Amino acid sequence: MEFFIDTAVVDEIREINAWGVLAGVTTNPSLIVASGRDFKEVIGEIAELVPGGAISAEVTALDAEGMVKEGKEVAAWHQQVVVKLPLTPAGLQACKALTSEGIKTNVTLCFSVPQALLAARAGATYISPFAGRVDDIGWDGIGLIREIKEAYVLGDIETKVLAASIRHPMHVQQAALAGADVATIPYKVFTQMIKHPLTQSGLDGFMKDWAGRAGASAEAA
Ligand code: E4P
Repeated sequence: MEFFIDTAVVDEIREINAWGVLAGVTTNPSLIVASGRDFKEVIGEIAELVPGGAISAEVTALDAEGMVKEGKEVAAWHQQVVVKLPLTPAGLQACKALTSEGIKTNVTLCFSVPQALLAARAGATYISPFAGRVDDIGWDGIGLIREIKEAYVLGDIETKVLAASIRHPMHVQQAALAGADVATIPYKVFTQMIKHPLTQSGLDGFMKDWAGRAGASAEAA
């Protein structure tokens, strides 16, 4: 499973990208607003920060014609841009049109297997089921990801399952085991994923022993 980061804050992207684990970045209109940055400027900067990565930039038009127009504009900003479209009839129509022109798409706000099947038939490069928001209403977000992947495998569908709305490290583990191709993970969850108390106490012990080795005090002097 690949990792994308779900943010438009460049300092967060820079920090996690330095770990060498990122294959892309997802943004949405709310994240762009929260970043306080100009949309085009920040997408360009993100693409430069993560060379070769898939950078999702979402359209805000609600009609198919407007989505296609906007999608072509954002795709022209950088070759790494993936056009993010909502899972609506207009979004599917725009997905088909953009796909037929060779533009990559991420169909977002997916909450059911039938929706995911429709997006795949419209040519989506990625489908984004929102695990956390499904959990929020008392359903099984990871179960949805597992079922979408199963349906795609049975149907020999190439659309990649991008687990979104990830809320904690266990979601990441469960998405991987459910067969997600990618998980888009918030900065905070990356910082939680890397921590384990035994890693820190083990390192502290090694460093303490190393400092106490024969000749260490002479070296330090
Ligand atoms: C997906 O691409 C979305 O940006 C994101 O994962 C939504 O997550 P949220 O439910 O935490 O807003």
